[in-house]
Order: sequence, then C-alpha cells, then structure tokens
Amino acid sequence: MRATQPVFHDEEQKVWHLFRYSDVQRAMSEYATFSSDPRSTMEWQPEETDPILASILRLDPPRHRQLRNLASMAFTPRVVTQLAPRITEITNELLDKVSNSAHELDVVRDLAYPLPVTVIAELLGIPTEMRADFKRWSDALVSDEGEEDREVLFAEIKSMYGYFAQVLEERRQHPQDDLVSALLAAEIEGQRLSDIELLGFCALLLVAGNETTTNLIANSVLCFDQNPGVVERLRRDPNLLPGAIEEALRYLSPIKAMARFTRTETVIGDQQIGAREVVITWLASANRDESQFPQAERFDIERTPNRHIAFGHGIHFCLGAPLARLEAKIMLGAMLERFPGQWHVPDDAPLQPIKSDIVFGVKNLP
Ligand code: HEM
Repeated sequence: MRATQPVFHDEEQKVWHLFRYSDVQRAMSEYATFSSDPRSTMEWQPEETDPILASILRLDPPRHRQLRNLASMAFTPRVVTQLAPRITEITNELLDKVSNSAHELDVVRDLAYPLPVTVIAELLGIPTEMRADFKRWSDALVSDEGEEDREVLFAEIKSMYGYFAQVLEERRQHPQDDLVSALLAAEIEGQRLSDIELLGFCALLLVAGNETTTNLIANSVLCFDQNPGVVERLRRDPNLLPGAIEEALRYLSPIKAMARFTRTETVIGDQQIGAREVVITWLASANRDESQFPQAERFDIERTPNRHIAFGHGIHFCLGAPLARLEAKIMLGAMLERFPGQWHVPDDAPLQPIKSDIVFGVKNLP
C-alpha cells in the first residue's frame, strides 16, 4: 500500500487510510486539521457519556493541554525512575515463580501480562487481586471479536466503569497516597475534574498501561527468537538492550493504528480529504517505511537513528513511554540473565494473534 496507494479511501467503510511515515507523522501532529475527537465528524455534538472519549487521548487543545499537564505529573522521569526497585522486585517474584513451576513457561501469561498490570494497579492504588478482572476489562476495551460478542464486551466495560466509580467514591471519602486520590484533588483553573473525566482517565491508564506493555515484552521476545544470535549478543553486551527494545517497538509495533478526524478539508499525498472524515494512521506501516528506515524489513538492534513512531507523535505522544521502556528493560534484562542458552518458541506451538484493529500481539508465547 505504501508504494501503490499510500493514501487510500475505503469507500465502503467511508474511512481514509494513511500508510507512509511522513503522512502518518503529519496527521498525528497537525491537530488543528486532524482532530483526536470523534465528535469532530458529527454535525451535532452529543453530550459526553463515554468516559474514554473524555480522556486526554480523545481531546484537542485547549482542554487536552490542561488535562495532560495534570496527568504528566504522575509520569515524570523522576517518578518513573523511582518505580525501578519495585518493578525489579515484581519481575524477580514472577521469575522465581516460573523457575519453581513444573509448567512450561508462557511469556505472555507468566511474565509479560502480570508485570504491567501489577505496576498499574499499584499506581492506581487498586488491589492486585483484581488482576483477573483487569485483564478481561482491558481485553474488552481493545477487542474486535465480532458482533456476536458485543453484548458480553459491553457488559465487561460496564462492570469496569462500575468498579472505578466505586473506587473514586471510596477515595473521595478516604483519600490515600495514590494516583486516584491525587486526580480527585487536582484542580484546573479552580475546577475539579468531572466524574466522567476521572473515569476516562482510569480506563485509559488501565488499557494504555497494560495491553501495550505486555505486547512490547512479548513482541520483543518474538523478535529475539526469530533473529538468531540476538540473545547471545544482548547477553554479551547488555548495553544493547535499550536499542533492541526500540527496534522491537518499530518492527512489531504494539499499537498498529490510531484514528484522527478531519476538521477541515485538506490535501494529503495527491488526495483531497474532505472535512468530517475518519482517517486511520497506520503506525505499524509507517514504522516499516523504507524512505525513513533503510532495510526496514531487517530487525537490527543497533539501528541508528531509529525514529520510530510506535509511541505516536506530537501533542498526544505516549505519556507512559518511559514507564513502558523501563518495564521492558527490567523484565527482558532479567530474562537474559536467568534463562541461559538460546530462547526457543516451540515449532509446534501455533501462536494466536490478538484479534484487534488497534493492538498487535499474541495471546500466548510458550
Ligand atoms: C498515548 C502507545 C504504554 C499511557 C499513546 C499513543 C500511542 C501510545 C501510539 C498516542 C495516541 C494518539 O496519538 O492518538 C503506547 C505503547 C506503549 C504504551 C506502544 C507500550 C509499549 C503506555 C503506558 C501508559 C500509557 C505504560 C501509562 C501507564 C498513555 C496515555 C496516552 C498515551 C495516557 C495519551 C496521551 C495524550 O493523549 O496526550 N500511547 N503506549 N501508555 N499513552 Fe501510551
């Protein structure tokens, strides 16, 4: 598509698709033309009832800037660096558990899933026992399992918002030293966040902080497995690990695509796109664009420069990027130390891809 139809109009679905790095980068950063708010495509403005739509992910300036400033406080490099000892502790507990288990290791189930969900649950101040519910809820938020499961998905999403509403109420009564209590106390120009904004924030962190980091860790293992010699090189020189993680972000991007909504008419490539159109920016395609990445189909842990856009670009650039990078570095670094020899995904293990238009990863990785 990049070579033949880089700006493609799907007339049946009434959606535009962008495949080239330069076009994706432009649509992600020119927020005045390419809004993040789906309501930009609607002639009337419905009252906001979906919390995810009220989260910063779906807002444009100036409200985006206000909420982002607030949220950024929770994810400054200093705050994230302070989390390192706890992330290392959780990682070692998980690795001890698999070392003492008679079962075959599944990277997704045993390591890549529990690490980020535990970290985010602790950040939000939510008991780790809720982990199984968290998993179902975040799966439901990104799922694309088809019409027949829609009611089950909606029921999951509803129970998630019910749970967060309860947590918000509890923290309102009894504030604690956690992110939810901090958000409840926060004010923008003398005004507290609305309930729907608070719920949206919790849901966004749950899904943004879980599924994506799980997939980053598992996709990195997949890349290392498929490229002989990488594991040995990383073990010989651990300083190569951060570059290898960046390359895995580029090569198997955990988020495949994001949506934008045109506010005005615009020209992109040789195509005229009207106002109020849906535009899908394909990050996974942009990250394989030869004009940006020489030998883009090669997995090269020493690729420099590596300006991938797996974390997006512009004002919505991923807030959790330092945290995701840190978790991946600690977990993969510990795996390299503790699992000697070559890593090998058994040939008879059919990997099941996650069914989703948004995230890219596998459900299992033995
Ligand atoms: C935004 C990817 C991990 C929180 C984004 C965006 C991307 C992305 C592509 C931009 C969306 C857009 O422009 O519409 C990823 C990937 C991750 C990851 C690939 C892991 C490998 C995390 C984590 C957190 C997080 C761990 C938090 C705990 C957020 C938030 C936003 C965001 C709050 C919205 C920022 C805004 O709208 O200003 N992420 N993310 N992400 N991410 Fe991440």
